[in-house]
Amino acid sequence: MHDVLPPDSARRRELVQHFAAMAAAAGYGEVVPPLLEDLGVFLRVGESTDVVTKEMYDFVDKDGSRIALRPEITAGVVRSFVQHRPALPWKVWYAGTNFRHERAQKGRYRMFDQVGVEVLGVDDPDLDVEVIALAARFFESIGLRQVELLVNSLGDHDDRARYTEAVRVYFESRRGELSEAAQGTLDRNPLRVLDAKRPSDQQVVQDAPRIAEYLSEASAAHYGRVREGLDAVGVAHTESPLLVRGLDYYRRTTFEFAATALDAAQNAVGGGGRYDGLAEDLGGPPTDGIGFALGVDRILLACDAEGVFPAPGPELDVFVVDVVDGTAARDLTHELRGAGISADRRFGGGSMKSQMKTADRSGAAVAVLVGEDEAAAGEVTVRPLQGQGEQRRVPRDALLSALRPLLLAPPTPAPAPRTTPNPRTTT
Ligand code: HAM
Repeated sequence: MHDVLPPDSARRRELVQHFAAMAAAAGYGEVVPPLLEDLGVFLRVGESTDVVTKEMYDFVDKDGSRIALRPEITAGVVRSFVQHRPALPWKVWYAGTNFRHERAQKGRYRMFDQVGVEVLGVDDPDLDVEVIALAARFFESIGLRQVELLVNSLGDHDDRARYTEAVRVYFESRRGELSEAAQGTLDRNPLRVLDAKRPSDQQVVQDAPRIAEYLSEASAAHYGRVREGLDAVGVAHTESPLLVRGLDYYRRTTFEFAATALDAAQNAVGGGGRYDGLAEDLGGPPTDGIGFALGVDRILLACDAEGVFPAPGPELDVFVVDVVDGTAARDLTHELRGAGISADRRFGGGSMKSQMKTADRSGAAVAVLVGEDEAAAGEVTVRPLQGQGEQRRVPRDALLSALRPLLLAPPTPAPAPRTTPNPRTTT
């Protein structure tokens, strides 16, 4: 787990805000499920996955119930759907923190953030295209160019079951050639052997049965329409018949985004797919679902690797330099902030030269200087630090109008007081 400090925190916030704006522009509302869920919510979605069996932080609560810190957000969103039954289709986005007790390394953390979307109640393959395209556009819009999209279909419930059995029988017939780890995976979750990374296992995986032969006509048609739609809207993708995801709930369309500028072991920057049986598993009516989650920490590593989406510079309108006694700095910063102009100052005084250094480092557009002369005359000196403009002295009460043309953005008015009457004071 790691701390996020400025300016990385600002970069993270900007990334999430950008995602939020894109999701909102496609008709998604924000959902904020709790960080903790009943352990059962996760057990029901992935009893044979590492995420649930090995990596979950769970504990017994004060009332004896078993609780888990969420390792992902989809299960909580679907639990929330089952509980509140919002009107369908339900299109939501989220941003939040997850916990997995993984072997920590660069790009793989025990606490990490995701942004994502989920849609409930739509069977249409064109929705799969909308969802996948949203993620692909997001990567593109933050400047990432080396992101590869892999797609596959795992078939519907019955196709998947038949395919899993075929894969199990196949790997059993070559068990002796598999590593000990892959043999363990075979016992728990045969499909996951397809994801084995060791070269010796890979050789066995290469000859494994392919899902295409096990897809029903309807599943194949759904998958065909998804690929056709991705082509039509210009989302480049590669079919990856061995793509199996790390969670159990997937049916039909599945996909993953790999940042090729990162190390292969941690280059998945996002993934998702359909989970048509999940609402039912969590006690709701049969409801189709699809979504994705993107790993914020990894996306930022990929941005570093490609040299895009830098941390935003500090943004400040005014730095007040007071070399008298701090009274002007105290009063002016308050006044400016009240007028919607961002302002900062230094505490503890200091010479003009050293305070100006701090002002330069602050990234402020303008320095407002108050020395003995200015204080005596009821004036201030306005010195542009960026862009054009001459230094000039103005009466203190003309400061706001002198500043306005020098600021980078128009002042944001302070929030207006709420006008809704207090119910206790109205009659
Ligand atoms: P996931 O593939 O487990 O899917 O995680 C999605 C993304 O979260 C990964 O591609 C990766 O970028 C990031 N991630 C996962 N684990 C870590 C970690 N330990 N450290 C850093 N980043 C990590 C899900 O979570 C599904 N809920 C996605 C989904 C939504 N499927 C349908 N809807």
